[in-house]
Amino acid sequence: MATKRICDLGPVEKRMVITLDGPAGSGKSTIAGRLAKELGFVHADSGAMYRTLTLACMRVLGPGQTADDFGRDIREAGIDPAGLDCHARIENGAQVNLIGKDDVGSEIRTPLVTARIRYIADSRAFREAVNTMLRDFATTTDLVVDGRDIGTVVFPEAGLKFYLDASSETRAARRLREFRLRDPSFEGSLDRIQADIERRDREDRDRPFGALQRPADSILIDTSTLDPDGVLNRLLGHLQIHF
Ligand code: DC
Repeated sequence: MATKRICDLGPVEKRMVITLDGPAGSGKSTIAGRLAKELGFVHADSGAMYRTLTLACMRVLGPGQTADDFGRDIREAGIDPAGLDCHARIENGAQVNLIGKDDVGSEIRTPLVTARIRYIADSRAFREAVNTMLRDFATTTDLVVDGRDIGTVVFPEAGLKFYLDASSETRAARRLREFRLRDPSFEGSLDRIQADIERRDREDRDRPFGALQRPADSILIDTSTLDPDGVLNRLLGHLQIHF
């Protein structure tokens, strides 16, 4: 199906924030990127900010730690996020994640980082650091922001909020396809990936602050039977209704 263009939508208020929350694998990040491009907004990826802070802590605490060691050290060391020199910048309309002057690129997407993020995402101080970076972005540009607590905590006054969801089976099947596309010899099983996704859902929902929650005023999109074009068209349809 052809995607509707922004010109169909009429004028859109400046410095607008659209939020996209949902569980891991619901397609938020892909859709947020495409929606931002369609609207001429910037896509702010809050997960990438948590990932960058996690990588910076891994560098401070040293190599070779298990995820449990990392969690214990994060709780005990009292690391101040401000001292980690992590920043996010908008360059040519895209978010760049930095530690010091270095663009972290795809290093924040390794399984080692993913296995340690929850200790950072559970910390109030680290959550405040991410929320401040996101709110700073919103002072300079229109945003599509994806994450877990964006419509509830970070931008409760956002102009339009979406919550993307899909069954854990569907999300696991998508992940398996992605892994196999990247590495045709990938041998992980669907059951294992689904169990992993369900564990992350529990961690995200049970977090003491900034837990994954559907904002009461959000539009729910079940992506289980939709491809990315289908999801994007649904979102654009809602934009036409609202603006
Ligand atoms: O979207 P992602 O998988 O890249 O996010 C990485 C982790 O960061 C995810 O496991 C939960 C955490 N996160 C969060 O707690 N709050 C957000 N707004 C975004 C991500």
